[in-house]
Amino acid sequence: MKLRRLLTLAMAAQVIVTAVALLASYAVTGAGFGMPEIIALIASGAVAVLLARFCARRIETSQQKQAAAQLAEQAQASAQMTQAVIKTALDAFVQTDANGIVLEWSFQAEALTGWTRQEALGTDAVDLLVAEPLRDGFRQRMMRLLPELSNTPIGIRFEATLLHREGDEILIEASSTALQIGGRTVINSFVKDVTQKRAAEEQLIQAQKMEAVGQLTGGIAHEFNNMLTVITGTIEILADAVKDNPPLATITKLISEAADRGAALTSSLLSFARKQALQPAEIDVNDLLEELAKLLLATFDKNIEIVTRLDGKIWLAFADRGQLSSALLNLAINARDAMLDGGRLTLATRNVVFGVREAVAVGAGYAGDYVEIEIADTGTGIPQAILERIFDPFFSTKDVGKGTGLGLSMVFGFVKQSGGGIKVNSTEGRGTTFTIYLPKAETSTLRPAGYDERKVVGGTETILCVEDDRDVRQFVTVQLQSLGYKVIPAANAAEALAIAGAGTPFDLLFTDIVMAGALNGRELADEMVAMRPSLRVLFTSGYAHDAPHGPGHVTMGAPLLPKPYRKAELARMLRRSLDTAVDAAGDPIPTPYSVQADVEDFLHKHSSDLDGR
Ligand SMILES: Nc1ncnc2c1ncn2[C@@H]1O[C@H](COP(=O)(O)OP(=O)(O)OP(=O)(O)O)[C@@H](O)[C@H]1O
Ligand SMILES: [Mg+2]
Repeated sequence: MKLRRLLTLAMAAQVIVTAVALLASYAVTGAGFGMPEIIALIASGAVAVLLARFCARRIETSQQKQAAAQLAEQAQASAQMTQAVIKTALDAFVQTDANGIVLEWSFQAEALTGWTRQEALGTDAVDLLVAEPLRDGFRQRMMRLLPELSNTPIGIRFEATLLHREGDEILIEASSTALQIGGRTVINSFVKDVTQKRAAEEQLIQAQKMEAVGQLTGGIAHEFNNMLTVITGTIEILADAVKDNPPLATITKLISEAADRGAALTSSLLSFARKQALQPAEIDVNDLLEELAKLLLATFDKNIEIVTRLDGKIWLAFADRGQLSSALLNLAINARDAMLDGGRLTLATRNVVFGVREAVAVGAGYAGDYVEIEIADTGTGIPQAILERIFDPFFSTKDVGKGTGLGLSMVFGFVKQSGGGIKVNSTEGRGTTFTIYLPKAETSTLRPAGYDERKVVGGTETILCVEDDRDVRQFVTVQLQSLGYKVIPAANAAEALAIAGAGTPFDLLFTDIVMAGALNGRELADEMVAMRPSLRVLFTSGYAHDAPHGPGHVTMGAPLLPKPYRKAELARMLRRSLDTAVDAAGDPIPTPYSVQADVEDFLHKHSSDLDGR
């Protein structure tokens, strides 16, 4: 504008100069100032004005062009920067218009959803990513969010469940902003997959909740166990004494049965609290599942088909066989209850190798090798609303008296205590799959020998019996004596060590594991066996306070008698320990007390093989 005025001024000056020049020529030459001069003057002025206008316009256009070029350059740099941000962002970027039609789809969006950019551009994002029945609801939700989105420059964050191209559900967290560009609305969203993170958080919350309830339950069950040990142990003496008095014999039978039920309940509670005295060993899970399948086939309704898919090369798992059987049975019974109109139960095994992420996702103890056992049904499925409560103790949807709600909490506790993990997948109306992961067996442990369950056999050896509960100690002493043994009772590890130190001879150390005092039963046994490698040891416990006795301890192979126990079990375990031959280094040489069970087993297998031919 300034330049224009300057040019006009210059032109005006030129007119004035021309006029002055003309006047001067007139004054000097004296010629008349006629029409030609005036016309020349006007023409000169007009030319000057036109010239000024023309120049000014040229200058303006060139300035405008320069500014436009600068703007374009800036816009290009900013677009390149935006593309670079989108490309290098860890989260997926999706741009849509106000109707949800995809305008931009980053490389990460391809990875997250399985849909390529080419496929996604121009399609409706909701159709692409949301399951059919949820689409209308999703659209309505987005419509409600849109005004809010347009009014907040910082955008909004929300969570949603989307569908991967392959059909898997993905839980995402999105942060969206709306922009008005050229009179239309554009929605930019950065989308993050939080499926794994949420699974890990849920596992942690579940673990903390279970830990708290478990502490309480475990403590109570432990006390009950000690009381039950006294009841179940002494009732047989009473029953023996009153066997000729039918009314009293009936009462003792009732007490005995109630105690048995109490023992079963405390065992469930301890198992849930992960404080069950476990005896892990190498297990061939295929064998176990085949046995289970036979049992189910015989007992389940015929409208339930039972299918096994067992990996022939399955590794040995390391877990408590008895507990694993009851865990699998629990899952199978739940499956049956969910298939009242019939269906298919599939039992499958597989080897899996977990990285840290996978191990965390199923709540397993560490990254490594696991044996996977899957129990899948085609039943009712579990509604989403209750899915996170099914492992809670006493949670049941079954009628009163039909379910205690302890089944799954026991399974959960057992699997966790074994260092494994568990996961559940369920779709309402389609069925449920429970998957258990058990650690692969690394060490070779002694296989328990077969014993004759029917006979109670005593002995005359001397037993050092260490037990810190006075009542239990007294009862065990009486029971051991009734089996013919000589007993030296001790109230704790220190007393036991003093007795051994004084040179008192004894053949077997029978000790509780969890005891008050400086040393627990395991440590006491380690110390005694270190002094006398040939010493036989039998542990007892109602409560596995720590992990199973690991490798590296001298008493690792020693047997464990879980509390509460009956006289017959005590007698059998004692004989098994006393009759196990020990080599010079104190390592047990497994020679079973009775080979009858093994022989019978062998003959049974052999004859069925022969039948099969
Ligand atoms: N396979 C399944 N299909 C459908 N729902 C299941 C399945 N497994 C468990 N559930 C649900 O989880 C709840 C808890 O199961 P859990 O085994 O802990 O207890 P319960 O079966 O009810 O009782 P209990 O096992 O003590 O007899 C069940 O009541 C049921 O609602
Ligand atoms: Mg159950």
